Amino acid sequence: MASSSNYTKALTYENMNAKVRNVQYAVRGELAIKAEDLKAKLQQGDTSLAFKQIVNCNIGNPQQLQQKPITFFRQVLALIEYPDLLSEENLPLAQKLFPADVIQRAQDINQSLGGAVGAYSHSQGIRAIREHVAQFIAARDGYPSDPDSIYLTTGASGGVQQILQMLIANSQVGVMIPIPQYPLYTASLALYDGRPVPYYLDESNDWGMDTNELQQSLQKARDQGVDVRALVIINPGNPTGQCLTKENMMEVVEFCYQNQLMLLADEVYQTNTYFPQQLPFHSFKKILSSARPEVRDQVELVSFHSISKGVVGECGRRGGYFECVNLDPRVMEQVYKMASVALCPNVSGQILVDLMVKPPQEGDISYPLYQQEAQGIYESLKRRSQRLHEAFNSMENVSCNPAQGAMYLFPSVKLPTKAIIAAEAAGKKPDDFYCLRMLDATGVCVIPGSGFGQKDNTYHFRSTFLPPEQLFDDFIAKLQAFHSEFMDTYR
Ligand SMILES: Cc1ncc(COP(=O)(O)O)c(C=O)c1O
Repeated sequence: MASSSNYTKALTYENMNAKVRNVQYAVRGELAIKAEDLKAKLQQGDTSLAFKQIVNCNIGNPQQLQQKPITFFRQVLALIEYPDLLSEENLPLAQKLFPADVIQRAQDINQSLGGAVGAYSHSQGIRAIREHVAQFIAARDGYPSDPDSIYLTTGASGGVQQILQMLIANSQVGVMIPIPQYPLYTASLALYDGRPVPYYLDESNDWGMDTNELQQSLQKARDQGVDVRALVIINPGNPTGQCLTKENMMEVVEFCYQNQLMLLADEVYQTNTYFPQQLPFHSFKKILSSARPEVRDQVELVSFHSISKGVVGECGRRGGYFECVNLDPRVMEQVYKMASVALCPNVSGQILVDLMVKPPQEGDISYPLYQQEAQGIYESLKRRSQRLHEAFNSMENVSCNPAQGAMYLFPSVKLPTKAIIAAEAAGKKPDDFYCLRMLDATGVCVIPGSGFGQKDNTYHFRSTFLPPEQLFDDFIAKLQAFHSEFMDTYR
């Protein structure tokens, strides 16, 4: 019998699921936790710190850094969230406050929701919204899309995890992931006990992807007995920002066919491309659809999209979707079963997916404002990416590829030997040490390259370029001052 003196907790760090314990997620790791502590100190009026605010460049979270939400989206959401505004009695008031196309859209969505935004929806996601997603994909790619093959998800992350969980039947199953990678993949593989099979992106070639590297990595893993079943491609890349060419993508599709790999295409940054003439976004769905018939009709593809990025930036609302192509119909039944176990993706996120894939069109009352806001955010992201890229390259021992897409830069820093020794003495990895120093000196929180993977003896960090444009001069000046002081100290 337990008494309060000998009571031991049922769940302890030691006896808990070791797979959970093994998960690492640098985006919200040591640096981010320390940044939160410092933020709390600032809020309590601590004046001993070297800065007045924390700048969270550790995560692609645009609205945290003052990106204004798209007005049309919020207007529609407001009406749906407070349906009394659409009642017969209040409609005249709503008509004074909201443009007619906003009211119409809220009414349409309400109808597809059965008027109940607080109710569970269909487990696969609201049918009318999946139809809009399918129309969006078909218009984007020029190939048909089937609403029954689309699942609305709780952010792209929910979808990625759902598919990985299905793939990883046992601990011999491997999934090819890029290095550097977005840590959702290594974290989920650790959780489901799968084997990461890394392939390296080529920093000297704008973080390009080489199919020889894919082949070698696959061969090595298969020689070691790993049952490699899938290939993850992040395009545009995170943290590396590269955009793949059509030719390169077709090679990848062929590679998957030759090696019987399911292709998992993470395309959450599809509208964040900053050289659209030279490097436009192509979806893997489009490339696969244009492949030779045997390939087109066989290669299994799941592609992911999200409301978190692009110019939408509604990441806290947790909406996304995935589209499945060529999956075994009996596997599709299991996908549906697992979606049902989770009841349904969150409904506000689903509504935002609807708005993202079907925004105001030319001729609509809300179009000019929508267009102005969306274009404004896009242009500003592009300017900020270029400014930060130039700033990093102006720093001693730092070199940085441009962001062809996405929201991040991933500069390489040649750290002086003295800094590496000082890091060891402090029990830190050299890149952690550098980033912690940066946080202490500037309040800017970035993530060490080791959180994403990097070649041995190279050091990187990832920074978003999301700080507001009006603060950019100050942000860059602080980083430059910190870096030269750091180099002077450890030279
Ligand atoms: C490459 C990549 N995939 C997926 C996600 C997760 O997105 P979501 O917010 O839709 O879960 C992110 C978020 O930063 C990402 O960078």
